[in-house]
Amino acid sequence: MLERSLTSKVCRAQVETLRNKSGCDFQALERIALALGLQEDPRTLQARPDDKGGRAFEYEHIDHFGTHGEVFRSVISVLNNQVMQGSGLMEFVRKAINAGMERLAAAFEACHQDWEMTLRRLDPIEGFGKSARLLASATVTPIDIWVGTDGQGRPIVWAFNREGGDQTNGNTAIMGVPGMGKTQFLQSLLSQIAVQGSETGFLALDYKGDLGKDERFVKRTGARIIRPEECPVPLNPLAIPERVPARLVPEAFAEVFKSFRPGLGEVQKNALANAYRDLLDAGAEPTFTALHDRLKAIYEENSRSEDTATGLVRQLASLQLFAEKATLSPSELLGQRIILDLSRLESVRELVAFLVLHAFQMAVSCLPDAPIEAQDERRALRCVVAIDEAHHYLRRKSPPLLTLVREGRSRGVAVMLASQSPEDFRGQPEYEELLGNAFLFRLGQPPSNRSLAGVLHESQRTAKQLADVVVGLRQYEVVSTLRTGENNRHSRLKILPFWQLAEEAGGKGPGR
Ligand SMILES: Nc1ncnc2c1ncn2[C@@H]1O[C@H](COP(=O)(O)OP(=O)(O)OP(=O)(O)O)[C@@H](O)[C@H]1O
Ligand SMILES: [Mg+2]
Repeated sequence: MLERSLTSKVCRAQVETLRNKSGCDFQALERIALALGLQEDPRTLQARPDDKGGRAFEYEHIDHFGTHGEVFRSVISVLNNQVMQGSGLMEFVRKAINAGMERLAAAFEACHQDWEMTLRRLDPIEGFGKSARLLASATVTPIDIWVGTDGQGRPIVWAFNREGGDQTNGNTAIMGVPGMGKTQFLQSLLSQIAVQGSETGFLALDYKGDLGKDERFVKRTGARIIRPEECPVPLNPLAIPERVPARLVPEAFAEVFKSFRPGLGEVQKNALANAYRDLLDAGAEPTFTALHDRLKAIYEENSRSEDTATGLVRQLASLQLFAEKATLSPSELLGQRIILDLSRLESVRELVAFLVLHAFQMAVSCLPDAPIEAQDERRALRCVVAIDEAHHYLRRKSPPLLTLVREGRSRGVAVMLASQSPEDFRGQPEYEELLGNAFLFRLGQPPSNRSLAGVLHESQRTAKQLADVVVGLRQYEVVSTLRTGENNRHSRLKILPFWQLAEEAGGKGPGR
């Protein structure tokens, strides 16, 4: 049984600061705090007025004894001199985490926010630092995805967050003609990641509304469906996170508009960037309404009449598609599980998606690198940005998307793009380099050798042979870059669609 409780509000603020500055994840820090809390006399652990206003934690992730959780319960019972179980046990664990986090945060400040020094100082004699490092490193959750089966029907498991050997990142390109299973595959990947990576968030840009209408998918991932026309997207793309250099953002923001409407001229772009800059200089949190007012004033000062640029900003303001205040910190934003249903946005569909990607890219850029566990070369996975029907974004050469793919890896963010064909990346070779993994479903017509070679990381000679294979694939069959034990670089697999995964007992795949 999964037992949940909440830490205190203060504890939550402390763990967030520690997480941002140390690069450790919540569970690691809470486990260290628990260890510190257990060093105190249990009778001195007090309940606090702000108790239960903090972060939810799950007992399973804290005790780390797995099936031997009884040992942990027994130790805690001995410490307390009474049988501890159920809510009483959770109450105690919560108080111990709260108290331990207090100690950890104080030590961190005393060490001038130097994480290594903090660990060394916590217990210089017994070397708590060493054990804390073990506690911390044990939390890079391995994510192993059941992809499907090979030609002999053997299950293929993908060590998704492995970073080493032949796998350099989790960025993934999924391509193929309609009906072959791209969205089903995307859902299968996301749901397995969500089940295994309890701390991993995701943003699914749901172009046609396919993911949001699949109840089993929503339930299994615990995702929130956001339909911006009904309820604002819970972020303000105009709000700049603390550690992002604000002076550079207005230009990038204006570029987002330009990629959506390539007809925007330099004058319009500059006016947009200047209006945004003026809002930033004014100090209050910028909103689309304020941006529209300022842009209009600039136009009036220059005797320009309203045009596409003002029209777009007016539309964003009047439709109230975004929150006016940024309530989530960058790491909280990435920890959310969001299905953004764009299907009813019509004329501003891609613009809303680009603005969300712009906000995510800013959030990613100010986070520390995600921890890596050296032993089995796994990197903590913070978030997956999954984009269905990605050709719409690729075609418009969306700048924040490329930046996100480029900068995400080291921060523990993987990008998955489901599109129609390798040709969608034509003219943007950087994607081919940055997307380490490719799954090619059936293509309508043979792609150029150059494009096929690019996405599969193969020679053009091999691509030429594969071109005939990919046009003849059946539903759910793919040619992929996954190595399956044989020596060749690519493999031919049958993927596991989400609907089938959902029907499997437990849905966790073979041997798990
Ligand atoms: N519950 C189910 N039972 C059996 N088959 C299903 C189920 N749900 C979906 N499918 C199959 O999945 C296929 C759709 O796959 P999917 O939506 O992933 O295709 P796609 O490649 O994303 O297509 P498009 O490009 O049109 O979005 C359907 O044709 C159907 O055969
Ligand atoms: Mg689809």
